[in-house]
Amino acid sequence: MKAIGILTSGGDAPGMNAAIRAVVRTAIYYGYKVYGIEKGYKGLLSEEIIEMDLSSVGDIIQRGGTILKSSRCDEFRTEEGRKKAVEILEKFGIENLVVIGGDGSFNGAKKLSELGVSTIGIPGTIDNDLAYTDYTIGFDTAMNTIIDAISKIRDTSSSHDRINIVEVMGRHCGDLALYAGLAGGAESIVVPEMDIKTDDIVKRLKTTQKRGKKHSIIVLAEGATSIADGAIGLKKAINEGDEGADVRVTVLGHVQRGGAPSAFDRILASRLGNKAVELLIEGKSSRVVGIKDNKIIDLDIDEALSMTNTFDEETYEMAKVLSI
Ligand code: ADP
Ligand code: F6P
Repeated sequence: MKAIGILTSGGDAPGMNAAIRAVVRTAIYYGYKVYGIEKGYKGLLSEEIIEMDLSSVGDIIQRGGTILKSSRCDEFRTEEGRKKAVEILEKFGIENLVVIGGDGSFNGAKKLSELGVSTIGIPGTIDNDLAYTDYTIGFDTAMNTIIDAISKIRDTSSSHDRINIVEVMGRHCGDLALYAGLAGGAESIVVPEMDIKTDDIVKRLKTTQKRGKKHSIIVLAEGATSIADGAIGLKKAINEGDEGADVRVTVLGHVQRGGAPSAFDRILASRLGNKAVELLIEGKSSRVVGIKDNKIIDLDIDEALSMTNTFDEETYEMAKVLSI
C-alpha cells in the first residue's frame, strides 16, 4: 500500500494540527498508509516515525501547537543529511511527503523532491511571509492574540496615561504588526518594510498629545531594524525626546505562537491539508498549496519561493490617518 509521510517544521503555528488532521484523514480515505514524522527534519533523521490512523488525529483540530512537534535541523541542510533522510523514507516505504512549515522548510522539501521524494508544502507559520499565498496557517490566530494583548495593555495604559511599546513577532515581515496594529487602534506601527525613525515617532506622539491623547500604543515588529535596539532603544529615544513621557515595553514573544487556532485558520488548514494529499494522489511533486482571493491554489515550490512579498503600504498609510 502506498504511504504518505507528514512532518511539521520551523516555528510552530496554531492550525498546524488542523492541517495534520486533514492530511491524515484524506490520505486514509483514499487508501494510503500515513506516517507521522516527529520533530520535523530532525526527527526524520533520527527515525522518529510512527504510523497514524484516523484516531491519531482525534480532538486536535482545536489545539494549538503541533502533535508531531517541530524543530530546526542543521544536519538536514547538508547533502549527506538529506541523502540519509531519503534512505530512511525508503526504508519505511514513504514515497510521498507533506511538509508543513515556512520558506526554510519548503527549501528542504524542494531538495528532497530533487532526490526523488514527491513533496508538497503547506504554509504553516505565524509570520505570513510567503508571497505566493494571501495567508499562512497561524497568522490569523497570532494576529488575534496580539489584538487581545493590545486591548489589555490599552486598559492599563489609559489608567496611567502611559505610552506602551508592544513588540510582536514576524521575523522579517511586518504583517502581524500592521494588521494587528490597525485592528488594535495603535497610534504608531513600526515595520521592517518602512524606514521609520525614532524622531518620526516622537514627533507623532507630541502631535497626538497636543490634541489630547493621554496614552498611546506603539506596535513594533521584531524585525524593524530602522529602530536601533528595538523596543528598549525606542523607549530610550522617546524619553530623550520627552523626559516626562511614562513609557513601558511589552515583548509578546511566544504567546503569539500558541492558543486555539481561529476558525479561519482551522478552515484554511483543513482545505490546504486536503488539497496537498489530492495533489500527491495525482502524482504531483515539488509544489506548495496556498490561498489566493479565497481560492485554494497550488504552484511549483521554486516559483513560490522566488516571489517577493509586497508590503501593503496603502493600508499602512491608512492606519496612520485613522490613529491621529
Ligand atoms: P521556516 O520553515 O519556518 O522558515 P526555518 O527557516 O528555521 O523555518 O527552516 C526549518 C528547517 O528547514 C531548518 O532547520 C532546516 O532543517 C530546513 N531548511 C531550511 N532552509 C533549508 C535549505 N535551504 N536547505 C535545506 N534545508 C533547509
Ligand atoms: O517563524 C516564526 C517565528 O515565530 C518568528 O516570528 C520568530 O522570529 C521565530 O519564529 C522565533 O523562533 P524560535 O521559536 O526558534 O525562538
